[in-house]
Amino acid sequence: MRIDVVTIFPAMIEDACAHGVTGRARSRGLWQLGVWNPRDFTADAHRTVDDRPYGGGPGMVMMPGPIAAALHAARDAQAVAGVARGPTIYLSPTGVPLTHARVMELVSRREYGLTLLAGRYEGIDQRVLDAEVDLEVSIGDFVVSGGELPALLLIDALVRQLPGALNDAESAAQDSFADGLLDCPHYTRPERYDATGVPAVLLSGDHAAIWRWRRKQAVGRTWQRRPDLIERRGLRADEPALLAEYQLEASRGAP
Ligand code: ADE
Repeated sequence: MRIDVVTIFPAMIEDACAHGVTGRARSRGLWQLGVWNPRDFTADAHRTVDDRPYGGGPGMVMMPGPIAAALHAARDAQAVAGVARGPTIYLSPTGVPLTHARVMELVSRREYGLTLLAGRYEGIDQRVLDAEVDLEVSIGDFVVSGGELPALLLIDALVRQLPGALNDAESAAQDSFADGLLDCPHYTRPERYDATGVPAVLLSGDHAAIWRWRRKQAVGRTWQRRPDLIERRGLRADEPALLAEYQLEASRGAP
């Protein structure tokens, strides 16, 4: 998979992608990264990429020219590398929410180059967004100071789904959201910590019982913390019974 990022802070992207799962997957050749700085596509001595907003108001707006030139350079580089053109995504709090489903959809089209646009200041001139961007994506109902961290979140979520990016122990199939539910709790040694033990079933060696307990916790947690997910997905097969059990145990004060 090839991902190109347009940003005035290329080192933020390069550095963060050098670590952990994304770094390992990159050095194994599972994905390629390109970064493009709009300042490299300016003609003035100050390498200006922003200006005051028409209509007045606070803050600065990123100018269309350098952004368009950086996006075109990114797509040209993809074409030279033999990568077919895929979507251009602008990271913005005004975008559609980033979800597991959207991540999986992008991963399923990983043979196409993905171009991410990270903005700074109050935003980017709408004309270049209208002309160049296929989708605006938000990482949540809050604002961060630029699109770089949101772009990195999206990159991490995508790369960990690439075949071979995770080893068996890290399997993405067991992640929260993989089956529409939150993940169950996890425990490791020591067996007693701060005078608290580990749920007995996890020490039982009974794999069917352990599997059932984990699904019960996943259903129960999702019901407690994210009822909207249950509402949308519904409960399947034995999940209503697992939830009833969880609710009974919770009402009795079980952990
Ligand atoms: N840029 C600033 N805030 C953002 C958000 N919530 N999602 C995506 N990009 C952003």
